Amino acid sequence: MSAMLEVSNVSYSYGRAQVLYDVSFEAAEGEIVTIIGPNGAGKSTLLNVVARSHKLRRGNIRMAGHGTERLSQAGVVKLGCVLVPEGRQVFSSLTVHDNLVLGGYVSRRAGTAKATIERVFDIFPRLSERSNQLAGTLSGGEQQMLAIGRAMLSRPKVMLLDEPSLGLAPQMTARIMEVLGELRRESGLTIVLVEQNAHAALGLADRGYLMSGGRVLTSGTSAELKADRMVQQVYLGAAADPDATRQDPTQRSATGQPAAALSAEAK
Ligand SMILES: Nc1ncnc2c1ncn2[C@@H]1O[C@H](COP(=O)(O)OP(=O)(O)OP(=O)(O)O)[C@@H](O)[C@H]1O
Ligand SMILES: [Mg+2]
Repeated sequence: MSAMLEVSNVSYSYGRAQVLYDVSFEAAEGEIVTIIGPNGAGKSTLLNVVARSHKLRRGNIRMAGHGTERLSQAGVVKLGCVLVPEGRQVFSSLTVHDNLVLGGYVSRRAGTAKATIERVFDIFPRLSERSNQLAGTLSGGEQQMLAIGRAMLSRPKVMLLDEPSLGLAPQMTARIMEVLGELRRESGLTIVLVEQNAHAALGLADRGYLMSGGRVLTSGTSAELKADRMVQQVYLGAAADPDATRQDPTQRSATGQPAAALSAEAK
């Protein structure tokens, strides 16, 4: 299995505050990998470094066998890696259609863009009905569909998604997860899915990584993670610091410390 995306020993600081410590993960071609963890774990920071919205200062990131050290954000997109950022950032004052067209700008192949827009409308009929509506007036779920659709327009090999389920009703979340599965099946897309909704994410993903305090605490297949005591603790809100948790998860759960303790570490 060759890695489509290979992230090795990435560290990152905002000013003097270090928030990522030697983070490594990988995703094979056509694989869906999830990164779960509590608020402040460093998940968004990690995706932003991979997509190069943040500078890569320490560590290595390879995509489809290419080093990306020298690449800008646009360079990474051209190589086939696109980020759907947290909070569905669409261009509010542009129509649905124009948002999609802009997403295809980087590939510069007008013919394929048209076909891909058709494909987006197939997958999300609600967007098709609202093609000329201003994106800012779409519902939250519709904006999330548009953000994913726009990312599809760059014809990616790797799609990074930052909390696509945020603020969505369960049915809409289920639909988004279903669409991600379809995209992988039909085009062999590699997907890295950051989620607070561990249940939905582990339901879709092949494998996952649990992050907390800027570190990867554990990784495994989705089935392994679902059964993992640390994962259950983090989401039951009873874990404390990662080292202690690793030594004796049962003990820590007895302390009843809130999950906020995990987030506070990163600060
Ligand atoms: N621009 C910034 N400047 C300073 N600190 C930041 C900045 N962005 C994030 N941080 C801090 O970095 C840490 C990691 O934040 P990040 O957004 O990556 O976490 P996250 O895992 O995505 O959390 P959430 O689940 O809440 O989205 C947090 O402590 C946060 O306060
Ligand atoms: Mg985040």
